[in-house]
Amino acid sequence: MRVFSGVQPTGNIHIGNYIGALRQFVELQEENECVYCIVDLHAITVPADPALLRENTLDVAALYLAVGIDPKKNIIFVQSDVSGHAELSWVLMCNTYTGELSRMTQFKEKSRGNESAPAGLFTYPVLMAADILLYDSDVVPVGSDQKQHIELCRDIAIRVNNKYGDVFVVPEGRFLKDGARVMALDDPLSKMSKSAENPLSRISLLDDDEKIRKSIMRATTDSEGSVRLDYEKKPGVSNLLNIYSAFSGCAIPEIEEKYRGVGYGVFKTELVAVAVDALAPIRKRYEEIRHSGELAATLRDGAERADGIAWRTMTRVKRHFGLGVKG
Ligand code: TYM
Repeated sequence: MRVFSGVQPTGNIHIGNYIGALRQFVELQEENECVYCIVDLHAITVPADPALLRENTLDVAALYLAVGIDPKKNIIFVQSDVSGHAELSWVLMCNTYTGELSRMTQFKEKSRGNESAPAGLFTYPVLMAADILLYDSDVVPVGSDQKQHIELCRDIAIRVNNKYGDVFVVPEGRFLKDGARVMALDDPLSKMSKSAENPLSRISLLDDDEKIRKSIMRATTDSEGSVRLDYEKKPGVSNLLNIYSAFSGCAIPEIEEKYRGVGYGVFKTELVAVAVDALAPIRKRYEEIRHSGELAATLRDGAERADGIAWRTMTRVKRHFGLGVKG
């Protein structure tokens, strides 16, 4: 099966991105052909400093490798290095309704109160659909916050296939059941995000041990004092339980049992140790890779291989749509 996914190079890649997406990327590489992209064209839908964007792009690439994605087995590349993404996006835009795009919750959230939101923010999900369909992807591992975008991608693919014949493979999203959505540590009703103002709301993959400790020890809980899963009444503790489970590999009931009768202080202190143990090796590998000089060559090689697949898809798309005469 072909797997495709992407991460935006917007800085502060956090444990939500890791648990919801990157960890799945690593798991899936064992048995599938995987294509992992750094989606820099998506990152310019909001104002982005050019120099910082390039640094953030290389950061995500280094993190892909540091979490254990093998660039020889898989394709790792930067979206704007393959022109098919923007090209296919236009074709899909002509087969997407403005009504569908105005129902996207992420667009509504990001453009709220902003009369001059860029059109790219509105058409963002179409570019995402192009990313996926360009590679004939079967499976798309993402966090559950991307569900609506994946649904739209499927709808567009089915619509085009009905109109023009078998053009696209219709992909499936792959979401984790528990903890698919990692919540903000200071506000467990909002998802953990790269852009939240309070740095203690998230744990970034490159945070040092002290920052990890501080974020967890200050995390919002409740006054009940018992470590148990209850998303409705105990969203903060439930979020910490999910993070504990993801990093330790222990099932939630096991963790509840372990901390029965002890306060949040002990639970949080041990969660700090579990998180530090999981993240310190990633940070170390990242430091080695980021300035190794090989990163650029890896991305160039990835882009070439991605472009080969993209070119074949675009040729097929153009044939079905009657576009171009070059053949
Ligand atoms: P992005 O860059 O916001 O996030 C990257 C991945 O991390 C997941 N994620 C989370 N998972 C759990 N809890 C959270 N708090 C959390 N925050 C983020 C996201 O679901 C995502 O899987 N639109 C995408 C990027 C994209 C893409 C694609 C993904 C562009 N084209 C094609 C898949 C296929 C995005 O903004 O992800």
